[in-house]
Amino acid sequence: MKSFTYFSGVCLLICIVYSHANKTDIVSSLRWPERVMQKIQGNRLYASLLLGKSIEADQNICVLCDVLIGLLLEEKSLGMTNVQLSSEGEYFCEVLNFEDAKVCEGVIGPHVDVLSYIVEEATINNLNICAMLLDCEQGQDYFDWDLDIPEGETVEKVESTGAKTFRIGHITDIHYDPNYTEGKAVDCGEPLCCQSDQNDAKSGEEACGYWGASSNSDAPLQLVEEVFKEMVKKDLDYVYFTGDLVSHRVWETSRESNTATIKKIVQLFKSTFNDIPVYPVLGNHEAHPVNVFAPLSIGDDLNTQWLYDLILDEWSAWLNTDSIKETIRRGGFYTVLVREGFRVVVLNNNVCSIENWWNLYDNNDPYGQLKWLVEVLEQAEKDKEIVHILYHIQTSSCLGSWGKAFRKILNRFSNTVAAQFNGHTHRDQFFVHYNSDNKPIGVSFNGGSLIADSGAPNYKVHLVDSTGFDVWDTETYTFDLKTANEKKSIDWKKLYSFREAFGTQNALTPTELDALVFNSLNKNSTLASLYHRYYYKDGPGEAQKECDKECQKNLLCEIVTTVHNDTNICKKL
Ligand SMILES: *[C@@H]1O[C@H](CO)[C@@H](O)[C@H](O)[C@H]1NC(C)=O
Ligand SMILES: *[C@@H]1O[C@H](CO)[C@@H](O)[C@H](O)[C@H]1NC(C)=O
Ligand SMILES: *[C@@H]1O[C@H](CO)[C@@H](O)[C@H](O)[C@H]1NC(C)=O
Ligand SMILES: *[C@@H]1O[C@H](CO)[C@@H](O)[C@H](O)[C@H]1NC(C)=O
Ligand SMILES: [Zn+2]
Ligand SMILES: [Zn+2]
Repeated sequence: MKSFTYFSGVCLLICIVYSHANKTDIVSSLRWPERVMQKIQGNRLYASLLLGKSIEADQNICVLCDVLIGLLLEEKSLGMTNVQLSSEGEYFCEVLNFEDAKVCEGVIGPHVDVLSYIVEEATINNLNICAMLLDCEQGQDYFDWDLDIPEGETVEKVESTGAKTFRIGHITDIHYDPNYTEGKAVDCGEPLCCQSDQNDAKSGEEACGYWGASSNSDAPLQLVEEVFKEMVKKDLDYVYFTGDLVSHRVWETSRESNTATIKKIVQLFKSTFNDIPVYPVLGNHEAHPVNVFAPLSIGDDLNTQWLYDLILDEWSAWLNTDSIKETIRRGGFYTVLVREGFRVVVLNNNVCSIENWWNLYDNNDPYGQLKWLVEVLEQAEKDKEIVHILYHIQTSSCLGSWGKAFRKILNRFSNTVAAQFNGHTHRDQFFVHYNSDNKPIGVSFNGGSLIADSGAPNYKVHLVDSTGFDVWDTETYTFDLKTANEKKSIDWKKLYSFREAFGTQNALTPTELDALVFNSLNKNSTLASLYHRYYYKDGPGEAQKECDKECQKNLLCEIVTTVHNDTNICKKL
């Protein structure tokens, strides 16, 4: 859900700088660039912010950012307190009509504490902050670091013929909401609706239904229970859960309520899937405040250790293995040998998100996670294992330095890593990863979401080749929410099989999907439209709209852009 994450990231900062600088004259004399306008599409927080304001050239946003952040840092160094900072941010959040007072206050306070600590302790300047948030060129060098990659070439590819496959269920972005309440107004004016403390729907207004609502809503317990039961019927060998359990009530998260949610759903996974192994991943919403994953050296108030300790207890009992404990405690990542010759590696890549403030404090391979990944892959290569890598955030939303290091690793071990799986965008989509010579070296599959904000709720089943462990086919399952709410029962349907829909002949390898993008999707507009429809899971809204040439180009660019701001491959489309 874009709007929520932006709200706590970029918006927060802009709220504060606006309020502080009080330079409405600078702001109103400028024109906002296209790139920023794209970011704000459909986001009323930004829309109201930008009302009547504009900047001419792309770089002006950076100049503006530098000036305002510079002022803020200066004032802070002169003794402005967190309470003052927060209350100014809140004041403007309200005055500019971003959200109501309750939401402004709940979101801004905890983020200010983190940001303020970082500004005091780290040797960063205004340029670095703008470089991270807005991709501004100056100040980027702060984020540069390199990773040692072992010499040598990737092993010979183990081919997948599809002769024998096994089944992996993929569920992601569950966003369980313990406060979900039927009958409330779907358009409630807060970032998350269907809450017990909000108004009932008036007659003629859309009301929150039994299984959820078409937008602004998270998942009621009955929906989570239902999807798990349905998945169990699918004869699964394993399940991947790629993160985001906690609801979007981002203005009121706490360690306690996040803990309760995580425990509850882990318990439900265990009791429903029983002997079917489930491999869980941390999502950005599991942290408190949202998106913020701190280094271990930070004191108790601000650090993320409580979360790692929690999943250490919850997951290691669940996965029934001790070997994962050290890395979970260190940063929420682990690896498990699933069956002979087949390994799963789970990363906590929330650290690399451009919305994790701690990248300003310590951005050099947080938790030593990528260094560890290299060691795991080197050993897997020696042991002739094939690996699936799971993480929450699509790599294009990571800081460029992290994304480039990850790309180098993929390139070195491209035939060891057969596939990657992620969540976070709530869309049904895939990505092709390329090395710096534009050769396809990796594929990732996004699981969609259980909530309907991107069209319809869904889960997936991947058919994986038993020899080469490439994905052979992927099936998406969904249902019509409106009908389900009317009937109080869900008719699940298979929306499509990837092979049938897109006509792939071989396993879904980097080469095969690269060819699909460049030779089919890019040339056949009917097929690209189909990709658009399934991207939104054929739900109401976007999926039913026409996707014109430009819309198709954007979708295809998204597939081939896996390092932040790297548009090399997109340009070839
Ligand atoms: C900003 O400045 C104007 C004019 O100097 C003043 O009226 C207004 O109250 C100021 N706003 C804030 C939030 O300080
Ligand atoms: C983003 O990419 C453009 C074009 O490739 C480049 O000019 C710019 O410097 C890049 N920005 C960053 C922050 O790397
Ligand atoms: C549920 O709502 C109450 C207020 O009614 C709030 O205090 C609590 O944080 C909410 N829990 C979650 C998980 O959103
Ligand atoms: C384009 O794709 C559609 C849908 O898969 C297919 O029916 C059609 O034959 C394709 N057209 C061409 C020219 O390949
Ligand atoms: Zn999510
Ligand atoms: Zn997420």
